[in-house]
Amino acid sequence: MTNKLKYFIGNWKMFGDFGAFKIINKINLFSKQSNISLKKKKIVICLPNTLIQPFSKKLKTKYISLGAQNCHSEENFGPFTGSVSSSMLKKAGANYIIIGHSENRFEGDTNELIKKKIISANNQKLNIIFCIGETSKERRKKKTFSILKKQLQSSLAKEIDLNKIIIAYEPVWSIGTNKTPKRLELLKVVSFIKKETKKIFKTSKSLRVLYGGSVNSKNIVDFASMSNVDGFLIGRASQSSKKFIDIVKNYYK
Ligand code: PGA
Repeated sequence: MTNKLKYFIGNWKMFGDFGAFKIINKINLFSKQSNISLKKKKIVICLPNTLIQPFSKKLKTKYISLGAQNCHSEENFGPFTGSVSSSMLKKAGANYIIIGHSENRFEGDTNELIKKKIISANNQKLNIIFCIGETSKERRKKKTFSILKKQLQSSLAKEIDLNKIIIAYEPVWSIGTNKTPKRLELLKVVSFIKKETKKIFKTSKSLRVLYGGSVNSKNIVDFASMSNVDGFLIGRASQSSKKFIDIVKNYYK
């Protein structure tokens, strides 16, 4: 098993009320008591905005971090009804933020808008989980690589702090469907993303690349042998402490 730091990032989506603190609490206790050191595993739970401040106040811990799931492109305050900015999320207690999730792309987030959001989150020194991925139609038409390249090139500004950005490869056809890419397909895509981002940032440093889409406690065993994958973005299974903890445990088995 690899000694590299691996990320297990939960994306709660539109889930959770104050009672859900017990889920976070159990995950925190697991992380604290587990013999998998903090040098090997990083656990982050991305909450709905309503829970970030109360949970971060209750949970003063180094064993897990909290994140948000989206933000407005304007960094501070402005006349944007119903929106929340990266500075507001940071002040509420978020250290991480998901940007560019396909569910938000479906609601109208373009590559250009995502770029603005990434810049605003980067200015706030948030760790950014930047989601990219092709739809099933694009995959069928063999457009996966060109789509990913476009998403990376049009949303990554050169001034972004490389230590603060993590790419999450989430094929749209795998989110919530129990379908996952084949081993070889995933390995190819992950190395393509690492190569492309090196070109964009003109660096020899490899960016961290996660996989997301129908990750569960069974298929994590297969993903565990892919050392090029730096971690996972976990949707449904992160809404249960048991399912989430089993994923982490089985990864290191
Ligand atoms: P899923 O969602 O694990 O439920 O497929 C992943 C995601 O949307 O980030």
